Amino acid sequence: MHPKDFREQALNFVAQLGLEEKTSLLSGSSFWDLQPIVRLDFPAITVSDGPHGLRTQDAFRAGHLGLTDSAPATCFPTAVTLASSWDEALVREVAEAIGHEAQTLGVSVVLGPGVNIKRSPLCGRNFEYFSEDPFLSGRMAAGFIQGVQSKGIGTSIKHFAANNQEGNRMVIDTQVDERTLREIYLPAFEIAVRESQPWTVMHAYNRLNGVYCGENDWLLGQVLRDEWGFEGLVVSDWGATNDRVAGVRSGMDLEMPASGGLNDTKVAHEVVEGSLDEALVDRLAGRVVELMLAGQAGRVEPQETDFDAHQALAERAAVQGAVLLKNQDQILPLKPSMKVVVVGAFAEKPRFQGAGSSQVNAAQLEAPLDRLRAAVKAQGGEVVYLPGYDVEFARHDPALIADAVEAAKSADAVLVLAGLPLLFESEGFDRSTLDIPSQINALISAVAAVNPRTVVALSNGSPVLMPWLGEVAGVLELYLAGQAGAGALARLVFGEDCPSGKLAETFPLALEDVPAQADFADHPRRVVYREGLNVGYRYFTTYKKPVLFPFGFGLSYTKFSYGKAQLDVARDDLSEPVRVTVAVTNTGDVRGAEIVQFYVRQKGASVFRPDRELKGFAKLCLDPGETGDASISLDRRAFAFWDDEAKRWRVEPTDFEIIVGASSEEIRAVLPFRPAVDASYNSRGAFGIDTPVILSDEQLCALGLRVTAPEDSRPFSRNSTMAEIRGHWLGRRIYAKTEKQMRAMFSGATDPVVEKMGQEFLKGLPLRALQTLSSGALTEKRLDMIIALLNGHWITALRSLF
Ligand code: BGC
Repeated sequence: MHPKDFREQALNFVAQLGLEEKTSLLSGSSFWDLQPIVRLDFPAITVSDGPHGLRTQDAFRAGHLGLTDSAPATCFPTAVTLASSWDEALVREVAEAIGHEAQTLGVSVVLGPGVNIKRSPLCGRNFEYFSEDPFLSGRMAAGFIQGVQSKGIGTSIKHFAANNQEGNRMVIDTQVDERTLREIYLPAFEIAVRESQPWTVMHAYNRLNGVYCGENDWLLGQVLRDEWGFEGLVVSDWGATNDRVAGVRSGMDLEMPASGGLNDTKVAHEVVEGSLDEALVDRLAGRVVELMLAGQAGRVEPQETDFDAHQALAERAAVQGAVLLKNQDQILPLKPSMKVVVVGAFAEKPRFQGAGSSQVNAAQLEAPLDRLRAAVKAQGGEVVYLPGYDVEFARHDPALIADAVEAAKSADAVLVLAGLPLLFESEGFDRSTLDIPSQINALISAVAAVNPRTVVALSNGSPVLMPWLGEVAGVLELYLAGQAGAGALARLVFGEDCPSGKLAETFPLALEDVPAQADFADHPRRVVYREGLNVGYRYFTTYKKPVLFPFGFGLSYTKFSYGKAQLDVARDDLSEPVRVTVAVTNTGDVRGAEIVQFYVRQKGASVFRPDRELKGFAKLCLDPGETGDASISLDRRAFAFWDDEAKRWRVEPTDFEIIVGASSEEIRAVLPFRPAVDASYNSRGAFGIDTPVILSDEQLCALGLRVTAPEDSRPFSRNSTMAEIRGHWLGRRIYAKTEKQMRAMFSGATDPVVEKMGQEFLKGLPLRALQTLSSGALTEKRLDMIIALLNGHWITALRSLF
């Protein structure tokens, strides 16, 4: 049952509560638990990360984050791998399994999926997000939410909204024009909300156009609730609360984690003072109670998780998400009777998930080397292994390369396991380059120089450069394939399964080619999305810019031919969706799946429109010689752009083309269509057809976005970060104390990546977040005094003592 089904019961419950009890519900009781009402025997519920498996631990309640020692859970492939499967049913199945594990661990809400758009390939958290495309992200998210919620467990779609970088995420002001928000950054949330009603939406840390997301009336009220009809609860990202009272006014229901009651008291005080309507508190408390009732109803008798079954599912998902990027002379699949030299320390210690809050304590974990050895054993083959680099840092080490080269010379084939070591990408910081470590690049080139039958298998959470692409025969992108990635690798490399994944993002040729880089994580307080709609393939295809691998691209061991595509238009005014169908035949020798993509292009538009936009896809799994129909329907919205003057979606009566593609660049059919709709539209010029790629302040202003100057870092305020106060004598002391406290929170972590993440997290932490960290021990008065002292206002500081 959904929380909304408990509305009446919740209202009755709230009616029995006093003001303090009601406000107590508006924040958690610990890091992961909501607030119980002990007087009425009303138990709390527990929430838990995260998107590709659970990170749950009893010790959480003792107050530490448990990044490395949560309860064993299945680590499914990360979002980037899942999205490359383009398989909504598979995502739903994975999510059902996560929901089941949540039931067994007593978790009522899973904190995922993450649907932020991959604006730049450098965002440290891209592995946790699905795609650069909003439609694909939205479909994946809808499937995930339906899967988890079918088990009576809630989800929390995150991070709402425009949280597309890790750098200074807690204070940054993301400035984006409305059309770009509506067409790029919001639709994934919109699709998921409209189609699958997540129990909760997690608001992002950042500000959006000057206002913190958790206090943003437009975002939480107008868009989320009024327009999309969201029926669930809004929860803060952990420690994101800036001004709780403002949050209450905007309908931000639940603050997490606990702030020691500090903010609840503030809210109650405002009610008593008469400046906050108690009815508002009732509404928010009611939504918290609805969520808790739904969570309680979803509880089942503790049952065992069949980890073997989930391992098998994780392997199947990892197979479906792997993308074959190069296969010269059909080097793949390798024969299991071959002598294969396996190079790369990931063979022993796989890179299978990303670091940060999504990190799962994998219930099972196979080493690729073991699975590769097992695959050749019965067939008389041989696997010889050389590490080639150290797994943590991939430091410069010519001797490791020399050993690998020696072994590679006599091999029938070389398989290099390459990619990004854990330390290179994580929640909490962004990457600074697209390069993989130079040791690994040099290793690949060196072995390929002595053995042209070299295949590279990549494990990384987002795009990398491949300077050796022309030197190797094959490349298989596994991304971060989860705990069963080893099995997927072995099955694909030796042809037990046929690769069918396609990229859910563009691999650029160089970082400079990505328009977002004009303004990405380069200012501590502000980021302006000057590239507007020019995100991912929308940009590369519109401006005909070459890329390393395009969005939607992926090879197979078999071949597919496309028949004639057909358009079925019931009513050309789009009052009913149009249907597009294309027959696809597997003309090769093995069973395989093809992902057919449908893009819409508007010709003669009066405004700038990207050359093509994904509006549908279908995946067909076919035996050799078999034909199937890929068929989708396109509604009015599929043809529309956001008219930022009229504030509505608009379709123009011009020529359109529906493009059927095997990727965003491999067009198999083009179908013309002219809708009989609204009259033509005259744009204001900005975002007109001649819009430049990067918009100036003036052009953004014409689009309705007033770019504001970044906030000054002086005088110090509640939002000053640890990095900003560090130069001050008092700031240094606060920094050191907080660092100590954070170490305790990240306890058990000797892991260098947790250490690095902790450091970056600390630097970006605003002073106000110390109140939450101290569970309210840092009172408002003391915080004011600290700020006064930091600013050298001794008298004010003294006054605040009394
Ligand atoms: C992350 C969220 C996560 C939460 C709880 C935050 O720092 O941004 O995605 O769910 O922590 O771990």
